[in-house]
Amino acid sequence: MSSLDLSPAHFRRLADRVSTLAEEWLEELDTRRIAPDITGAASEAMFSEGLPEQGLGDASLDALKPLMAGTRAGNARFLAYVFGSGEPVGVLGDYVASVVNQNVTAWRSAPTVVSLERSVVRSLANAVGCPGFTGSFTGGGSSANMMGLAMAREALAPANEDGSPSGVMYASAEVHMSIPKAVALLGLGRKNLRLIPTDAQWRMRPDALVKAIEEDRAAGRRPIAVIATAGTVNTGAVDPLRDVARIVREHGLWMHVDGAYGALAAMAHPEKFEGLGEADSLSMDAHKWLYQPADCGVLLFRDAKAARRAFSFTGDYARSLTADAVEGFAFFDESMELSRRARALKVWLSVRFHGLAAFRESIRRDVANAKRLEGLVRETPALELLAPATLSAVCFRYRAGLEDAQLDDFNTKLLAHINRRGRVYISNATLEGRFSLRACFVNHRTTPEDVTTVPREVLAAAEELKAL
Ligand SMILES: Cc1ncc(COP(=O)(O)O)c(C=O)c1O
Repeated sequence: MSSLDLSPAHFRRLADRVSTLAEEWLEELDTRRIAPDITGAASEAMFSEGLPEQGLGDASLDALKPLMAGTRAGNARFLAYVFGSGEPVGVLGDYVASVVNQNVTAWRSAPTVVSLERSVVRSLANAVGCPGFTGSFTGGGSSANMMGLAMAREALAPANEDGSPSGVMYASAEVHMSIPKAVALLGLGRKNLRLIPTDAQWRMRPDALVKAIEEDRAAGRRPIAVIATAGTVNTGAVDPLRDVARIVREHGLWMHVDGAYGALAAMAHPEKFEGLGEADSLSMDAHKWLYQPADCGVLLFRDAKAARRAFSFTGDYARSLTADAVEGFAFFDESMELSRRARALKVWLSVRFHGLAAFRESIRRDVANAKRLEGLVRETPALELLAPATLSAVCFRYRAGLEDAQLDDFNTKLLAHINRRGRVYISNATLEGRFSLRACFVNHRTTPEDVTTVPREVLAAAEELKAL
């Protein structure tokens, strides 16, 4: 036996120890500090020895417990960023994905898991109102966005005659950073992403979009794609998808929807996402609003031919030797990934266990939690609402007894102080240049009582900060 191998019985012993650690971790999830009280120097020191030359055997697992004391994003009062809460059945699905370790790149390398992924993708597409779309799982929303825009570019503006890149893309000024990164990586250059002004609710203004497209056309430039956001990272704004779709069709462009944060909520609130099904490509993140452990992004598209135009470069060694459409299918022909993890497995197991109805209900509860916080902020004179809850993000700041000029600085310090107290964990956004506290509800564990902790903690931390 190779010295790297374990007997199945030994594997089971180690797995039992990890299961016990997981059980303890879940038991303590809501009673422990949300983020560790640790400095950068101390966390670096934990790993300063690097990797050992000689293995430690079973004792190597002893180091897991302190490591697991890191930030607990699954805590019911972790309301920062947009990050899912790690639904436990999905965790087990991830475990099985690693045990079987199939390469989900083509049917011939992983027949059952490839069919499973295709089926899960179709089900999710139906659930969000995009019937007939296909696609694949990705490492996250950033790579799904990158792939969607690569498809747009290949479909509409592959290259100039001399091979130099060309083309312009459009997104709202509230766009997520993954879009300028994708535009840069595609070689279009970041200056070829037009940031379209937003209305009072942080949604892309259709009139300004049309104007920008017409100006570029008049100047001899080549508009390619409009990126509409279905759930901006700051405020959860959903761009006017129907208007964008109409403009895109009128001008012969590609419509990509960045739904990494919000689109899965269309399962529960379709009325907030009218026009989503008119996209050419759509990114979503099951490791955000489907509560799955990372990583678990999804790219959906209307036309698989467009995906193959962008991603299929099958060399002879990878050429399919069958005429059967299923058996000849390869994700590598429709994705930038080649070796691929079975990400769909955790979604499949998790949804089989709980049912889609339970996920819809949980998403509705998140939206209601955000509305509840919005209400609490409105009725607390010391707080000022900066953006109402469109989906599940609420932006506000503390202002009692402060001059306008002090607000940004005070709230910046306040955020650090709130999180240091360890009872809630929130993040920030900058809205029209104003520093805002931000709570985002994409956590299946958060209860209405947890929501009331937020203003209570903000007020308590503000009093402490003022007394310092
Ligand atoms: C609107 C939006 N788009 C894209 C992303 C990027 O997703 P990921 O972190 O999975 O790469 C995020 C992440 O928060 C997001 O909120």
